[in-house]
Amino acid sequence: MAGVMAPHREDLTGPSAAWLAEAGRTLPRYTSYPTALAFEPADGEVETREWLSAITPDQALSVYVHVPFCRRLCWYCGCHTSVFHEYDRVGSYFDTLKREVDIWADHLPAHAGTQHLHFGGGSPNALLPEHFAELLELLKRRFAVRPDAEVAAELDPGLLTHEFVHAAAAAGVTRVSLGVQTFDPEVQGKVNRTQPFAHVAGVVDQLRAAGIQALSFDLMYGLPGQTPENVAESARQAVTLSPDRIAVFGYAHVPWMKKHQRMIRDEDLADARGRWAQAEAADATLVEAGYVRIGLDHYAKPDDPLTIATAEGRLRRNFQGYTDDPAPVLIPVGPSSIGSLGPGFVQNAVFTNLWGQAVAEGRLPAARRLPITSEDRLRAAVIERLMCDLHVDVGALCLAHGWPVETLDGSFDDLARLHVLGLCEVVDRTLRIPEAARRLMRTVAACFDARLQAAEKRHATAV
Ligand SMILES: C[S@@+](CC[C@H](N)C(=O)[O-])C[C@H]1O[C@@H](n2cnc3c(N)ncnc32)[C@H](O)[C@@H]1O
Ligand code: SF4
Repeated sequence: MAGVMAPHREDLTGPSAAWLAEAGRTLPRYTSYPTALAFEPADGEVETREWLSAITPDQALSVYVHVPFCRRLCWYCGCHTSVFHEYDRVGSYFDTLKREVDIWADHLPAHAGTQHLHFGGGSPNALLPEHFAELLELLKRRFAVRPDAEVAAELDPGLLTHEFVHAAAAAGVTRVSLGVQTFDPEVQGKVNRTQPFAHVAGVVDQLRAAGIQALSFDLMYGLPGQTPENVAESARQAVTLSPDRIAVFGYAHVPWMKKHQRMIRDEDLADARGRWAQAEAADATLVEAGYVRIGLDHYAKPDDPLTIATAEGRLRRNFQGYTDDPAPVLIPVGPSSIGSLGPGFVQNAVFTNLWGQAVAEGRLPAARRLPITSEDRLRAAVIERLMCDLHVDVGALCLAHGWPVETLDGSFDDLARLHVLGLCEVVDRTLRIPEAARRLMRTVAACFDARLQAAEKRHATAV
């Protein structure tokens, strides 16, 4: 334990060279701890079945459904998706998905119903409207989706049709998140994603007219050709459409993993200082417009459930990002989807053919898994509170998890270095990330990651 340290004053003059060096480190996003890189091959499905049987009747479920298809390939895309030209491929995927829903549901013991259903991708609106509606009806029935559940879908505004909007609203979608990224036509041109402001505005009107009021936007910084000015302008334009939530993601450039990112020229990308300035520009615009900062990269209106959850210390972070969903169990549907089943994490086969083969044989398609130790749970809790609240009482969490108060003292050697840099204030076993260092919260969280070294090379930069 590092002992008592005086809190460090925030550096309000902008990032120092030392901060920028930290921003350039490659770190996990900590949507889970341990991260998916630690998962190991699953040996058959027996363990997954056992883990499912540990669900108790009082436990509510979340369900994540992955739709890995898009009409277009955006050069920056880091998602697990592919472009389809003929619907046949999507149609047979839809058939397999329905079988998979039945397989998971058949293995579920009694539970308290599903309170959060999330369609991600890819673009779930790659499905035909009638297929999407049929899938949602099946999920409702087989996973006992509660009447008050949040049913969220990530949709590509570029291929969103009237028919899809109406089918989604009628089937019970309550929240839509739209990939906006940037409104700048030149930047859009550099990433193969033409999407005029007027089109997105029209989509927003359609969604609201159909009764889907809860809207989230994804914006990005760090894309080729982006500057603080055009990032701020896109944020200003986004605000005029009044979404409840806005996420501002830093472009993760990993061309060694995502080959199409090679279409993006290195010389068009900003350096660490430029990325920081872009993130600041979006932040200043959104805060000025009345949005409240949520965690690392989200903003929400003051009366949004995420803002209220943050104020009450109930904000959570899971594979879908920030959420107020406290459900302890997440069922993964679709290839590459990650689930959380109490005793451990599971990930479905990433390749659609292997996933499809498992489903065709009537097997649960989980291909990787990781049993979670009680020390993992403690570290996960510390990392989650840091990523959500920017402060944590490490000693209190150790005790709450049944561990001696000094269990994580080894992390405080690393933290002492960050304390000197002004990235965190350490007093006894509590730590706080100053507002000015919010963007570097992953660097602070990484001090509690016991599995970091092997994984560090695979991630994108922290800012
Ligand atoms: C599944 S997509 C959203 C829905 C839809 N496919 C679309 O693009 O409109 C999820 C979001 O991830 C973000 N994203 C994609 N690739 C990224 C990358 N390489 N780095 C950071 N964020 C990325 C984008 O903001 C995107 O909107
Ligand atoms: S950003 Fe969205 S629409 Fe573009 S390729 Fe990725 S998942 Fe598809």
